[in-house]
Amino acid sequence: MSTTPSERILLGPGPSLLPPEVTEALAQPMLGHMDPDMLRIVDETVGLMRSVFQTENELALPVSGTGTAGMEAALLHMVKPGEGLAVCTAGFFADRIVEIATRIGAEVIRVEGPWGRAVSAADLERTLASPPGGRGIACVAAVHVETSTGVLQPLTDLARVAHNHGATFLVDAVASLAGADLPMDAWGIDACYSGSQKCLSAPPGMAPLTVHARTRGRGTPAAFYLDLEGLWKYWGPTHAYHHTVPVQQVYAMRAALRLVVEEGMEARVARHWRNTRALWAGLQAMGLGLLADEPDRSPTITTVVIPDGVDDARVRTRLLREYGIEIAGGLGPLRGKVWRIGLMGHSSQPRWVLLLLSALEAVLSAEGVRLPKGAASIQAAALL
Ligand SMILES: Cc1ncc(COP(=O)(O)O)c(C=O)c1O
Repeated sequence: MSTTPSERILLGPGPSLLPPEVTEALAQPMLGHMDPDMLRIVDETVGLMRSVFQTENELALPVSGTGTAGMEAALLHMVKPGEGLAVCTAGFFADRIVEIATRIGAEVIRVEGPWGRAVSAADLERTLASPPGGRGIACVAAVHVETSTGVLQPLTDLARVAHNHGATFLVDAVASLAGADLPMDAWGIDACYSGSQKCLSAPPGMAPLTVHARTRGRGTPAAFYLDLEGLWKYWGPTHAYHHTVPVQQVYAMRAALRLVVEEGMEARVARHWRNTRALWAGLQAMGLGLLADEPDRSPTITTVVIPDGVDDARVRTRLLREYGIEIAGGLGPLRGKVWRIGLMGHSSQPRWVLLLLSALEAVLSAEGVRLPKGAASIQAAALL
């Protein structure tokens, strides 16, 4: 039996397709994690990471682990047990922040919005002006692109409100870094983490993370593995052993970051917007509805409302089996109600937009949905 998995067109919420340069990086010769050649790669990776986060922060590193490891490391760094953390929540991944922070022992206050909308800065202001129980809030956390709803959360007003109340501001950029604009220093973000497998188009397994100097030395010292100061001993100038970093993952991360810098952030973000706007136009021409209204929509993930009477899993299975295309179903209360389409990193390309629209049209027609034939591709192509 062949051990090679089938080739897929990955248009779900991650992982995204790998560029050839990243695939090649994974096959480079093995180096020891303390080899001077490896440490040069480490330094370059840290420098590239600063430019992709658009930050002057000293501490920038990829945590060994997926986006959730970045989330946990960031929360351990930003809040101590018993401190107040306000979480702007309107989706599945903000709820995960709430869960981890609660387990860490933070006093979590939810600033809640409806799923499918951005959280309002006025609601955050009201909460911070009179927090429940009169408790001080040390930190505010928000998700830049909520992958469960496809909403792009505006961040600058949240940052201003947090700082006005003396709180730090932590952002989850797992589904946005290198796909949506995120100049973190200019926007007043004190700590930010992402994941390797979405807009960066590296394999899953690393979580880029950076924190401002003002946050250092004040969080919960994590047991060991996720302690940022400990990790910085390896990733920073000291280059002391902390744990054996996943060497190939680091090669892949460096290659992926280089591609982002070569393309240029402005051009890359514009590409994500262009392809995603074309996708929206095509889906709407097919008669499909989108969960989020336009001002709240993300350039990286789109949530499509599943038409009444259409079998969610059957459509996704047919796309996968007949066309090799992966899209995802909904999470939490949106399970069975939406499809999630990701156009991220190397997956954000005009040819995949047109292929997905044609394949979806064919599958939905075969499932008995009446659609205007060909309209989707025509509308999308006009914007590509
Ligand atoms: C916004 C957001 N945060 C956190 C995560 C968790 O990342 P991971 O699944 O890589 O652990 C995801 C994953 O989809 C995400 O979309």
